[in-house]
Amino acid sequence: MSMQRFSGKVLVVTGAAQGIGRGVALRAAAEGGKVLFVDRADFVAEVAAQASGDHTAGFVADLETYEGARAAMAFAAEKFGGIDILINGVGGAIRMRPFAEFEPEQIDAEIRRSLMPTLYTCHAVLPHLLARGGGTIVNISSNATRGIRRVPYSAAKGGVNAITQALAMEYAEHNIRVVATAPGGTSAPPRRVPRNAAGDSEQEKAWMSEAVNQVTESTFFKRYGSIDEQVAPILFLASDEASYITGSILPVAGGDTG
Ligand SMILES: NC(=O)c1ccc[n+]([C@@H]2O[C@H](COP(=O)([O-])OP(=O)(O)OC[C@H]3O[C@@H](n4cnc5c(N)ncnc54)[C@H](O)[C@@H]3O)[C@@H](O)[C@H]2O)c1
Repeated sequence: MSMQRFSGKVLVVTGAAQGIGRGVALRAAAEGGKVLFVDRADFVAEVAAQASGDHTAGFVADLETYEGARAAMAFAAEKFGGIDILINGVGGAIRMRPFAEFEPEQIDAEIRRSLMPTLYTCHAVLPHLLARGGGTIVNISSNATRGIRRVPYSAAKGGVNAITQALAMEYAEHNIRVVATAPGGTSAPPRRVPRNAAGDSEQEKAWMSEAVNQVTESTFFKRYGSIDEQVAPILFLASDEASYITGSILPVAGGDTG
């Protein structure tokens, strides 16, 4: 990778232990960034150590708590001397089922996983970006705002889109850009940390396959994207190349607009 778009920049990437977040954090480090890999999974430091460049670290935090978000930002600012860019990767549907089949506590769990970490980290990073005279937040949303079998997750990601637009409008005067991508279905290696620790029943696997079919059929390409195909637009939006883009939610879903 010859581009060095993040030379001299400090990035915090959440959900960096696996999947899209991991891909984003590793490439940002390869492009010269000082990167804090944040995750609830304790192997996040091991992932950070795989990065090229000598300015990475891992930090374990539960971002479903405000304290976790605050601690992660404080650690990054202390270790690297400030924060320029926050990329919010934590999220992901835990369960796929028709809405009537969700238990109330399962609805709450989806909102806690896919809305609250982004809301908390966006708030916790602001003092650091303001101290720097500006910065950038990229939220990883989803095209699932229009989709089947995961209405609570769709609602959470609709909230992420709203955070993106409202925060962009409110903080533009402070030179802070807030943008998002809305990925479609993305192929990834088997997850080290499963979305649903309890495992999926045969019925749940069948509901999931209905959602997968709907997502695949909604793309023009009739296929899932790759992690690299998600990482590239996220890092374009995070970089100074996107300096006149704010409040935008970019669908990265093979023609599906979410
Ligand atoms: N994979 C897809 O097909 C897809 C499609 C659309 C959108 N997205 C979005 O992209 C993002 C990344 O998805 P993925 O599938 O690559 O991720 P993933 O589910 O494979 O990994 C998520 C990571 O977040 C961490 N995490 C979960 N809860 C946490 C918490 N409370 N605090 C700290 N860390 C926590 C996990 O440990 C894990 O490492 C998510 O926001 C997801 O909603 C993914």
